[in-house]
Amino acid sequence: MNNTVDQSKLPIAVFDSGAGGLSVLREIIKEMPWEDFIYYGDTKNAPYGTKSSEEVKNLVFGHVEDFVSEGVKAVAIACNTATAAAIKPLRAAYPKLPVVGIEPALKPAVEQNQGGRVLVMATPRTLQEGKFQRLKARFDDQAEIILQPCAGLMEYVERGCTGTQEVREFLRQLLWEYLEKPVDAVVLGCTHYPFVKADIQVVLGPGVKIYDGAEGTARELHRRIIKFGVEREDQNRKGSIDFRNSAPTEERSKLYEALMKAHL
Ligand code: DGL
Repeated sequence: MNNTVDQSKLPIAVFDSGAGGLSVLREIIKEMPWEDFIYYGDTKNAPYGTKSSEEVKNLVFGHVEDFVSEGVKAVAIACNTATAAAIKPLRAAYPKLPVVGIEPALKPAVEQNQGGRVLVMATPRTLQEGKFQRLKARFDDQAEIILQPCAGLMEYVERGCTGTQEVREFLRQLLWEYLEKPVDAVVLGCTHYPFVKADIQVVLGPGVKIYDGAEGTARELHRRIIKFGVEREDQNRKGSIDFRNSAPTEERSKLYEALMKAHL
């Protein structure tokens, strides 16, 4: 990277396999509205959640390489699957770059539902990764942690089918066991799922508490940006967002716009 460039003025890259990371971008913007962002959705290669660890890692490294050669000051992996598969080798490969990821918000869910039943909804890849298994092992003795792989759910968000009978029917079939034997809490372990949070609530009932990790990721990104000395000084400006996609279409741009405005 060119040393004459003021690093603090470079954008922050936020990426996901598609539109899910917008649920994280929204929280990051609330935390640092003055920053500029590149939001990249890798729709061409989605879904990540049913791919092998190696495939996901290769995709993530490819994107980060592109961001770095273009010039970004930080990277947020707004995807639980990509984080679980790649964050460790990524941090090792880019020690000078602030890199944050997202992981299922199991900690607050277990702490606030001690001895209860906590359901983790995530992609098959996330739940199989060692990173998630180690997280689960830390809390296994405090609650009954139930894992629910949700292959096929992100596609409803990508098709803009949130709040529809169609997605609720899919969720009813996926979650029927927990209608018979209820859970106390649900952890949304995929960044697409906050967009169907209301649908999950309708299916499982109003008593179930639902957790996601986007706010924690936004705070952690802010901390790292300060720690690496790349925070912007001119904080009374409003930053920009450059939306990009590996398979761009007009409909996708409209979907992104609608999801950015969605009430989560
Ligand atoms: N949004 C991604 C996550 O948080 C997963 C979606 C996918 O399977 O690509 O895990």
